[in-house]
Amino acid sequence: MGELEKKIRELAEQNQEKVIQWRRHFHRCPELSFEEFDTSDYIARQLQDMGYEVKRNIGGTGVFADLKTGRPGRAIAFRADMDALPILEETGLDFESEKAGLMHGCGHDGHMAVLLGTAQLLQSLAGDLCGTVRFIFQPGEEANGGARCVINDGALKNPDIEGIFGLHMMPDLPCGTIGIREGHLSATDDEFVIHIHGKSAHSSEPEVGVNAIVAASHVVTALDSVLSNNVGPFQVATFSICQIQGGEAINVIPDSVEMKGMIRCVEKSDKMQIRRRMEAIVEHTAKAFGGSGEIEFIPGFPSVNNDSALTRLTVEAAERVLEHEDDVYHIERPHLGSEDFAYYQEEVSGAMFMLGCAQETGETGSLHSPILNINEDALLYGVRIFAEIAMSMCGRYGCY
Ligand code: NI
Repeated sequence: MGELEKKIRELAEQNQEKVIQWRRHFHRCPELSFEEFDTSDYIARQLQDMGYEVKRNIGGTGVFADLKTGRPGRAIAFRADMDALPILEETGLDFESEKAGLMHGCGHDGHMAVLLGTAQLLQSLAGDLCGTVRFIFQPGEEANGGARCVINDGALKNPDIEGIFGLHMMPDLPCGTIGIREGHLSATDDEFVIHIHGKSAHSSEPEVGVNAIVAASHVVTALDSVLSNNVGPFQVATFSICQIQGGEAINVIPDSVEMKGMIRCVEKSDKMQIRRRMEAIVEHTAKAFGGSGEIEFIPGFPSVNNDSALTRLTVEAAERVLEHEDDVYHIERPHLGSEDFAYYQEEVSGAMFMLGCAQETGETGSLHSPILNINEDALLYGVRIFAEIAMSMCGRYGCY
């Protein structure tokens, strides 16, 4: 271990207790997307206590602060998300949520603690850095795309950010490991709503009506072929119709049906092809049954797409921190969840990794479950890996 790595480790260990306290504070006081008012105040106070000048109300409740070294160099950013979930916590921890029905069930409490810890640590190393390191605390990750809002409010500007990094707690991986993937890490998703229109009639006179349920049934069956016929066998995609509604009386032929569902896939080109086929099937199948149909898409997040060079740099940073050579898992396939970190990567190169946080003994629970209980030792690894990344990107002596 080199001198600098040792110094980073020592500084991280000195701050470890504080990082855990931060995490427990966030855990006790969860707030929903775009309502992170107390969280935002708390973060701003901590950063100010460290001596940072803080920018507030970024994309709503967002906060960011810059470590300005005063030396020319790259500008990079780290991002943590701030929101909790409408879940009734069942962990029984002594720092359990104090708000019934709200819980940090996705580990964002840990993300914020890691980022505060990184801000504190890097300040002690400012003399070894050049350029600017920005710490972005972002609201509304859960289904609201808060990343878009902070970007619109200038989170990647002044100076222009050249690389952005993020992490997510991962209960499936042992503590002391990370998972990463070059290229796509998560999925892009679309919601869709299908409307089928028929013509109402008494059930004794089917010949004068158009039964929207019959037309809709054929649409459902036809749509089921969309993936098998339009997406390559080695591509990752899912398609599900999850809601259907139509008909009001047992003896009235219904004149409308509404169906809703989700498409998730990795490649944008697949998404566009799936959309085109769905439009054609809905329109023409409904027509064939004497009715009409249309489909509406509600776009979700793009997919997280890790830059090759920054992924390599992150792997190297993690290898300097983690104990064994095989503690960096190369994730084979993208997962089909979504993550709004993708919006940053539409603007600048970036890399996101999964931070292993499984408990050594006892249950960790899964993300979005009421029993999620992350291993707090993971926080220290998160801080050290972020610090190592900062040294690689902005090291004054070109350390790495
Ligand atoms: Ni999350």
